Amino acid sequence: MELRIGFLASHNGSNLQAILENISSGYLKAKPMVLITNNSNAKASKIADDSCLVSICLNKKDYPQIFVSLDEAIAETLKEYDVNLVVLAGYMNKIGPLTLSAYKNRILNIHPALLPKYGGDGMYGWFVHEAVLRAGEKESGATVHMLNEDYDKGPILARCKVSVYPEDDVNTLAKRVLKVEHQLYSQVLRDIQLDRIDLDCMSGLSLPD
Ligand code: GRF
Repeated sequence: MELRIGFLASHNGSNLQAILENISSGYLKAKPMVLITNNSNAKASKIADDSCLVSICLNKKDYPQIFVSLDEAIAETLKEYDVNLVVLAGYMNKIGPLTLSAYKNRILNIHPALLPKYGGDGMYGWFVHEAVLRAGEKESGATVHMLNEDYDKGPILARCKVSVYPEDDVNTLAKRVLKVEHQLYSQVLRDIQLDRIDLDCMSGLSLPD
């Protein structure tokens, strides 16, 4: 499948950066089309600028009648930039129904834990790693999954494990997980581009509650 990627990111954009580097190096054959962010100060926008990728800020401030108009603006922007695959890379807003239906089976997310554990509403960033450490897990990792209406419940495309050590704190664990995220996301995208993963076939595999 030819990949024309639209990215959505809110903050650091290190996953965005890793994917753009893998495109530049030739590891991943894909065209970055646009970055949509909800935060005008996102480091992700600077990364996009440095790569000459169009970056557009769409947020609730500009679209106060949440949630439909912002949702519509996102869907329209993705279509305008001819995106055929949406990559969420640390996007801190829920994707609305219009975008979900316009890009059915074509929105991916990365989560900093081994789903189906440690996912769901409120499970983001440090909260995830805190919960993993509190539970005394011996391993954690990253998961790339397809997006559906339920937080972190869409079909899992790939996971990568890391060890959790007794001396870990949230910082050290987050760092270890992020490192594998940077490889895993591009690997999955490459598998999609090479038709090793068929997103339409995966779509029926939602996780049970
Ligand atoms: C990552 O940990 C990812 O799993 C989560 O948000 C974080 C984004 O990091 N969805 P970055 O902005 O790509 O550095």
